[in-house]
Amino acid sequence: MSDILATRRGAVQALAFNRPSKRNAITAGMYASLARHIAAAEADGDVRVLLLHGLPEVFTSGNDIEDFAERPPLTEDTPVFHFLRALSEAAKPVVACVTGNAVGIGTTLLLHCEIAIAGDNARFALPFAQLGLVPEFASTYLLPLAAGYQRAAELLLLGEAFDAQRALEAGIVTRVVPAARALDDAWAVAERLAALPAKSILLTKALLRSSRAAAVRDQLRLEGEHFRTLLTEPAARAALAAFLAKRRA
Ligand code: COA
Repeated sequence: MSDILATRRGAVQALAFNRPSKRNAITAGMYASLARHIAAAEADGDVRVLLLHGLPEVFTSGNDIEDFAERPPLTEDTPVFHFLRALSEAAKPVVACVTGNAVGIGTTLLLHCEIAIAGDNARFALPFAQLGLVPEFASTYLLPLAAGYQRAAELLLLGEAFDAQRALEAGIVTRVVPAARALDDAWAVAERLAALPAKSILLTKALLRSSRAAAVRDQLRLEGEHFRTLLTEPAARAALAAFLAKRRA
């Protein structure tokens, strides 16, 4: 069974994290698969909307820490960066459905989605500083825009977990619904979007993005440079090793 499941229903292409044994932690192979699926959906004239989701109990625990510690992505020509670019530059609208934990990139990727639905069991966290790293996916640019500077700073600096209501207040998700119906609601929203005039939807998204596209690209690059440097420094090495040691203990 693949770690990324692709399901097509009508004009909606769903991509789902499916690695329950590791709480959907994302490996380089999964980033590559996501980037490929997004590119294919963008190129397919019959696909109008992308839907990202996880499992009922977990969206994703973020980057696979073992993969990161052992094979740190040291250039931009890596699967993780291909995924960041594919999602942040997607022309078609993206709906996300978060149930359970959404850690690290599991939270920051939501800032690139047009509609993000959270189940009331969703738990978010941005523990980059705790791990000796810096935030990624242009979240240091997009989260202050969504949440305001201080709310963004608190979430990104302290890295404490927060619930769906707080994610709603911070503009990370657009609605909170009972967890049991979150995925059905997300499909319904995606299908509603897919039924609207395609050209209007594409142009509306392009217009919404036009004023921020260059800043997002620049911030992705800048964060990436710092992230890759910090990944090889003692604080991150120690934090990643501590996670792995706890796991092996
Ligand atoms: N990378 C690699 N493995 C991970 C992982 C990650 N990001 N998150 C969880 N796992 C693994 C655990 O090591 C464990 O593996 P094992 O069974 O082989 O020991 C398994 O998934 C279950 O994890 P566990 O912590 O027991 O699950 P939980 O349901 O109690 O907690 C989380 C879920 C998501 C809250 C917790 O796993 C967590 O905090 N993960 C780390 C998140 C993180 O720091 N991500 C990096 C962001 S940059």
